[in-house]
Amino acid sequence: MKRPQAQVAVLQAADAQEDRRIDDVASEADLQPQAAARAAFELEADGLVAVSEETVAHYELTEEGDRYVRESLPEQDLYAAAMDAGAGDGPVQMGQVIGASGLEGGAVDIALSNYARKGYGEIDSGEITADPDVSPGQDPEMLALEAVADGRVDDAEEAALDQLERRGLVEVHEETIRSVVLTDDGVTALMEGVEVAETVDQLTPELLTSGEWDEVEFTEYNVEADAEDAPHGKEHILRQTANRVKDTLVGMGFQEMEGPHVDAQFWINDCLFMPQDHPARTHWDQFALEQPDEIGDLPEELVDRVRSAHKEGVGPDGEGYHSPWEEDVARGLDLRGHTTSLSMRYLSGEEVGELEPPERYFSVEKVYRNDTLDPTHLLEFFQIEGWVMAEDLSVRDLMGTFTEFYEQFGITDLEFKPHYNPYTEPSFELFGTHPETGEIVEVGNSGIFRDEVLEPLGVDCDVMAWGLSLERLLMLIYGFEDIRDVHGTLCDLELLRETEVMH
Ligand code: PHE
Repeated sequence: MKRPQAQVAVLQAADAQEDRRIDDVASEADLQPQAAARAAFELEADGLVAVSEETVAHYELTEEGDRYVRESLPEQDLYAAAMDAGAGDGPVQMGQVIGASGLEGGAVDIALSNYARKGYGEIDSGEITADPDVSPGQDPEMLALEAVADGRVDDAEEAALDQLERRGLVEVHEETIRSVVLTDDGVTALMEGVEVAETVDQLTPELLTSGEWDEVEFTEYNVEADAEDAPHGKEHILRQTANRVKDTLVGMGFQEMEGPHVDAQFWINDCLFMPQDHPARTHWDQFALEQPDEIGDLPEELVDRVRSAHKEGVGPDGEGYHSPWEEDVARGLDLRGHTTSLSMRYLSGEEVGELEPPERYFSVEKVYRNDTLDPTHLLEFFQIEGWVMAEDLSVRDLMGTFTEFYEQFGITDLEFKPHYNPYTEPSFELFGTHPETGEIVEVGNSGIFRDEVLEPLGVDCDVMAWGLSLERLLMLIYGFEDIRDVHGTLCDLELLRETEVMH
């Protein structure tokens, strides 16, 4: 007969006359106890052995039990104090007895309840008596406690042990002991000879056709074996960071904007008071669309107001650019060079209707610029756009908002530099320090929108706004030096896999 190795070992170690503990069989056969038990059950299923089980209780003193066995039970202390105070002859004041017993806190309650339960005496309206015939030295619970302590549990009374367990003075652990004994069939099999079956790890057509599969043992799956690491997809760290930025801004009370990646120059430039014939207009070198080359519709009244702002300016002393303004140019389609186009759409009331201050909006979206590629510039990047509409905003509010926002990413060394934008006054650029190189890195641009922007949009309170770079934020948090490691075809996959984004 051919049998798996563990079964052969158990069969050979088992006895026909007496039960042997499986654990002993296992150590003799050099098997793990679980492997020996499994083999024994398999042999039992084939009638070659019988397995029996018995449960053994192990008693152990708890910390409290251990203390009492070394000293005494609280009720024994109370009894001794009561006897000393003469409670054996009649009721004595309880307070006096407790004071003399040395019992404190919870021990008093324990002593009182067990005293009464054990009939050491009576406790009634503030008085205590002691039964002089009791001999607390023979307290069955104390004797049982001592038996457990000395490893003589068999000497202890069952009821006393139960009581100790209830009082939390001993803990009981149950152990199941399995034993195995050979059956007649097992004895016969051994006499006829049992061999270890060959183990195979793969079922082959040969094994099947020869019928040998019935003779061999199949190796088991080892689910704990080391396996090769299979790199799997995960969310890009930029996307993870974008989500963190969104959560942060939502936490600061902002709502999210969305809108087209390709948009009319009207929304990208004209609403922002960028003169059509001015170099500022192309200062990011936006990518223009050939097909389609024009937006379908623009809000006509807003177009008129924007045209007038460009030509004549706003307000009684307004100054416009005094240069041509063509609606055709405004209708031209570009890949947006900033998401301030979304801010214009929202502020104009086009997206979610007229807005009443205070309002806060943001987006974390891609923008496209015809930049020269270098370690800090790509043709596209994610802009963290945002604005706050409220009465009476100042530069302090702007700086306070940035400080609060960047602090959540551990960046506390922001610097501000005055700047020029055609659409904001004042304007500020923001800088942070690169954690690896120590260089000052520009992280964003901001300002308070000019009247020439707000008036045509129909907004008559203050709006402060910004565009920050998500990639630069990532650089400051994680110390990347080249943005091309993170983005695009040259990205460093290892770095992307291993970087853990904080949440
Ligand atoms: N649009 C600016 C940029 O892309 C950022 C900005 C937005 C500045 C809003 C001021 C106000 O750099």
